[in-house]
Amino acid sequence: MSTYVETKPKVTTRRLLEMKERGEKIACLTAYDYTTATLVDGAGIDLILVGDSASNVMAGNVTTLPITLDEMITYAKGVVKGVKRAFVVVDLPFGSYQGNSKEALASAIRVMKETSAEAVKMEGGSEIRESIERILSAGIPVMGHLGLTPQSINKFGTYNVRAREEAEAEKLLSDAKMLDELGCFAIVLEKIPAALAEKVAKSVTVPVIGIGAGGAVDGQILVFQDMLGMNNGFSPKFLRRYADLASVIHDSLGHYVADVKSADFPNASEQY
Ligand code: KIV
Repeated sequence: MSTYVETKPKVTTRRLLEMKERGEKIACLTAYDYTTATLVDGAGIDLILVGDSASNVMAGNVTTLPITLDEMITYAKGVVKGVKRAFVVVDLPFGSYQGNSKEALASAIRVMKETSAEAVKMEGGSEIRESIERILSAGIPVMGHLGLTPQSINKFGTYNVRAREEAEAEKLLSDAKMLDELGCFAIVLEKIPAALAEKVAKSVTVPVIGIGAGGAVDGQILVFQDMLGMNNGFSPKFLRRYADLASVIHDSLGHYVADVKSADFPNASEQY
């Protein structure tokens, strides 16, 4: 019996663009390890992001700022090994690309060489234009990220919806057009009004992937642990939970503890 991944062609930047052009929505998720990546890829997800949200959900940090390039590369190596069909993108972490475009290129080259991922993602618009241009000039695909950009949490002060005010909305639209013109292959829009996201998606040629940006964009992304209910402390309005894995894991572990304590596990058929 052939699996989904064997019957569907490998996703590339070209195929993502074709999906936008024919109106096929793009399904994206995060993954940070090999086992998860095999499950996510096998389910037919088109794009896997090794997000710097690993800083929160894998490393337990309060923000995405502490995660390092070395840590991102370690996570990404495992993910790439588990993927056959999806397009794999790796977040450049805070401090690895802002301010100095030569350092930005060096960071992106490390990601591409050491992980075999297919693209990098960077947060910001005109402020990081030079870094984006330099990375693109080396033939490395770049995914933009506008709206709520968690690496700038200390500037924003909150994780509230961005670009409700006209001036910020105008800047976001102009940044999106700039990313499109520079040659980014896609843009993530995080936590902005749905009407603005729709306007952006209609104003740029490349796919726009939303998280908390409504349904009129070209695709959606969620964090794996959030959408499977492994992380019940996090429940923003935009999050749809597809499972309650925290309860499944809690109950299963409780049974295991009870079985060990009662000497029910292992039984005769579970030993040599
Ligand atoms: O790091 C991440 O998981 C992300 C997504 C929320 C888009 O950037």
